[in-house]
Amino acid sequence: MSSKLSAKVTSSVHDDTAPSKFAGRNADALNTVSAFLTAQTPQAWFDKAPEHLAELLMDHANCEKKAASTALSMMYRYVEHPELLKKMSSLAREELRHFEQVLDLMAAQGVAYEQITSARYAQGLHALVSKVEPKRLVDLLLCGAVVEARSCERFAGLTQVLPDSVAWLYASLLNSEARHFQDYLQLAQTVNQQFGGYADLQQRVDEFLALDAELVTSPDDQFRFHSGVPRG
Ligand SMILES: [Fe+2]
Ligand SMILES: [Fe+2]
Repeated sequence: MSSKLSAKVTSSVHDDTAPSKFAGRNADALNTVSAFLTAQTPQAWFDKAPEHLAELLMDHANCEKKAASTALSMMYRYVEHPELLKKMSSLAREELRHFEQVLDLMAAQGVAYEQITSARYAQGLHALVSKVEPKRLVDLLLCGAVVEARSCERFAGLTQVLPDSVAWLYASLLNSEARHFQDYLQLAQTVNQQFGGYADLQQRVDEFLALDAELVTSPDDQFRFHSGVPRG
């Protein structure tokens, strides 16, 4: 199995940034997702994050809700996979708990929750998902792995640039997103092996990673949790 699929610990995220007081306890999680992703979030995104705090928190709340609802919809669609049902049930509960934590933080920061448009990121990744089973399920799981890994990487970087009154939440959520990443990736491998999805799963992983890299490193008009490089 190749390095991406085994998600080996080989390097760290944001080596070029100053160490933060939150960094040490999350080192393993960071190393794991860093070894998986092929592109780091551009520093320009992190530099702009503090001035977009309200949008960031609202979009983060939306992402946690979406993560829970994605897990639930897989539980409806794929009832014949016991391992998937258990992992997705646990994940949905955890994501809803994260949602509640973001709501509490928004209230503490005086941020009123409004409807905002979603980022291009999730839709962009989903455009690559096959319409045909069992490849569709493998792709959905790979999508989940990539989104969780990217979220974990952004959480880590945000702890370096946001005030402590907000950064603590990102430090506290980081490890669970790394675990979700590993759960999704392992489920994708299991499903692919058992039901014959892709002859070369690594090649498919690389296609999703290339798309993720393009979406997070190209210019973007919106500022969202998974947006690209801010224009201006
Ligand atoms: Fe979450
Ligand atoms: Fe998650």
